[in-house]
Amino acid sequence: ISLKPFNTFGVEISANQFVTVKSAEDVIELLSNEEVRNLPKLILGGGSNILFTQDVSGLVIKNEISGIDVIQEDETAVWLKVGGGVVWHELVLYTVSNNWQGIENLSLIPGTVGAAPIQNIGAYGVELKDVFESLEAIDLADGSLHSFTHSDCEFGYRDSVFKRQFKGKFIISSVVLKLSKQPVFNTSYGAIEQTLNEMNITELTVKAISDAVISIRESKLPNPAQVGNCGSFFKNPEIPQAQYEELKNSYPAIPGYPTKTEMIKVPAGWLIEQCGWKGKQIGNVGTYPKQALVLINCGGASGKEAEDLAMQIKASVDEKFGIEIIPEVNII
Ligand code: EPU
Repeated sequence: ISLKPFNTFGVEISANQFVTVKSAEDVIELLSNEEVRNLPKLILGGGSNILFTQDVSGLVIKNEISGIDVIQEDETAVWLKVGGGVVWHELVLYTVSNNWQGIENLSLIPGTVGAAPIQNIGAYGVELKDVFESLEAIDLADGSLHSFTHSDCEFGYRDSVFKRQFKGKFIISSVVLKLSKQPVFNTSYGAIEQTLNEMNITELTVKAISDAVISIRESKLPNPAQVGNCGSFFKNPEIPQAQYEELKNSYPAIPGYPTKTEMIKVPAGWLIEQCGWKGKQIGNVGTYPKQALVLINCGGASGKEAEDLAMQIKASVDEKFGIEIIPEVNII
């Protein structure tokens, strides 16, 4: 089966075996078969943070576990249990329409709810961990169901246990989020305030912020339905303060944001642009002209081509700045 429709970079590769699961019970039943348990397995959500460089041997399991349920509610908050296969942005729109606050800054992020905790999705000053309560996941080795609390997940910047020791070991069947009925808006990210002004929005609401974020994303980031891409290709690197000060002597314009760990986070997009890669095309791949951090498929690209370009970009950033940038995208 071709996986082209199931990866947003639009790579043409295939999988030996492919199955769709619609419920946790489906997964448990599937894994009750010993042959299936012994196969190498790959879990696919929206296919938006994955770059295939070769055909997949083994079984691809596409998570389409649905459902959005209110499991608890009081005057100030609502707890939602959401199926891992629910499209993230559809969940966001549902919460916005109910005026529940918490994930409106994460509007229009591609992918599914089950994939969201894996890399702790984040944008415009908010991360999934800020609203996360718990999740349920099924162990692919034996079909057993496990609960993970917030601390079990060990969230970090674009990171969790599911990218480290539990990588490839679980399928996330549901996620519980806690959203607020008494909005505390997060507009600290510069472009949001400015965009609200440009849109002539004077009253802050959950919907207004969602609309502003959608507008910013649409202006800066390619729509995967039109231009193949997998979002930010690299994580923003964190460097020691002293290294940042030294770089500032040579590059006074270098942006940097302090982190809680006293490191300075530098936008990888800026570093990549300074190396001359912004909007550049090599073969069938390139970087997006409005955001150098996003690699794009210019038509008919292979995953290998994209990986080669990423490695060239990585090498040139290292050479010019002495900074190592690490892919955020899962390269298979
Ligand atoms: N910049 C450039 N040139 C570029 C791109 C960026 O100079 O080509 C500089 C600018 O100085 C800009 C700064 O980088 O002010 C930050 O750019 P932007 O606001 O676009 O954010 P980012 O750091 O590049 C991160 C996330 C995005 C998220 C945005 C908004 C990562 C790896 N990426 O990008 O997440 O949408 O912030 O919060 O942290 C994703 O993970 O796929 C993703 C798109």
